Amino acid sequence: MSATNSWTFKLPTAVTFGAGCIGQLPQITAARGARPLLVADRDLVKLPPFARVQQVLLGVPVFSDVTPDPTVASVDALAARLRAEKHDVVVAVGGGSAMDCAKAAACLAAGNLSSIRAVHSEGVPLGSARLPLIAVPTTAGTGSEVTPFAVLSDTEKQVKGPIAGDALYPVHAVVDPELTHSLPLKVTIVTGLDALCHAIEGYWSRNHQPICDVMAIEAARLICANLKRAAQQPGDADARSAMSYAATLAGAAFQLPKNAMVHACSFPLSARFHMAHGTACAFTLEEAIRFNAPVMGERMTAFLRGAGLGSAEELVALVRELKQLGGLPCTLRDAGIPAAEIPNLAKESFHPLMKNNPRTMTEADLVAMYERLV
Ligand SMILES: NC(=O)c1ccc[n+]([C@@H]2O[C@H](COP(=O)([O-])OP(=O)(O)OC[C@H]3O[C@@H](n4cnc5c(N)ncnc54)[C@H](O)[C@@H]3O)[C@@H](O)[C@H]2O)c1
Ligand SMILES: [Fe+2]
Repeated sequence: MSATNSWTFKLPTAVTFGAGCIGQLPQITAARGARPLLVADRDLVKLPPFARVQQVLLGVPVFSDVTPDPTVASVDALAARLRAEKHDVVVAVGGGSAMDCAKAAACLAAGNLSSIRAVHSEGVPLGSARLPLIAVPTTAGTGSEVTPFAVLSDTEKQVKGPIAGDALYPVHAVVDPELTHSLPLKVTIVTGLDALCHAIEGYWSRNHQPICDVMAIEAARLICANLKRAAQQPGDADARSAMSYAATLAGAAFQLPKNAMVHACSFPLSARFHMAHGTACAFTLEEAIRFNAPVMGERMTAFLRGAGLGSAEELVALVRELKQLGGLPCTLRDAGIPAAEIPNLAKESFHPLMKNNPRTMTEADLVAMYERLV
């Protein structure tokens, strides 16, 4: 049966969007609990967007022991604090790292498990218990504010991957584009390309569905038209607003169909070679477009037309231009990855998300792809 005839769409997260909407955070938080805890990463707590949040949430205690690519250990420590201090609502401020750490901890703190490792790598189901979580994104990228996923790293086991479950949906996303004006050029590009990957992968996933398709195309259109401007003119309110909207829209677009080969390939690149998430996704994006476009037929043409592009090669060229503008690696050599790692990279890219790819990728296809990227 065609995806157009049979599907279920849901998005349980309330979304409040707009420049200055952070002013509504006190009421939104008070409606969910009386003992909030603010969560942000170690760098963000020193930056203006966090100061702005603290101005509106005066006196709320802060947990900031979160690193990029949040770890199982950070989630466990945050959950222990939530339990010990009896917090009843979590406000996560930051990029995907802070939001994912807080989302996972809000579930762990409300349930019976002692470590999120049980869910991340030992096959224990997440369960439905959770503290309510309000997500305040300060990057325009992951869409984590509207997804039921948290991507965690287990440094002991050297694995990075998502956990999933409805309990991970934030109850409310407060998306204020003004919080993104302080993003440096490189982080703007890296996170914006992650959002573009979500739009493309949600659209070409084998589990694609119509409402998500519409959101994916619009997100891609906005990103193609605004990412360069947002990166080069960081205070351009219109470009920043378009990017924040696009990133949330792309999150809503992939959260049900889920991602595919680009994200599957990103996990070993991040876990073993410490590439930032968006950098790792962008690394194989041009190859993935060239690999998948031929089997997508009319659907790819519709996507490209909707995104304001004439051809798949035009999209490839735009991705390459953005990567070069951000100083992102385009080859294994740029990334400092020896060619001898190609067989391992190919083997480790078979995360379950690979099954969503519209065209079957074999290990030989992956080896050939990485050989073109030497
Ligand atoms: N849960 C999901 O659905 C989902 C989807 C995609 C990616 N992810 C995960 O999200 C993480 C990446 O998140 P990210 O790309 O948003 O980056 P990030 O959260 O790691 O942040 C990157 C850096 O930008 C800084 N920063 C954040 N906002 C800023 C601002 N406004 N001004 C200046 N600096 C700012 C942070 O302090 C940090 O140093 C990865 O772990 C990735 O796997 C999750
Ligand atoms: Fe992503």
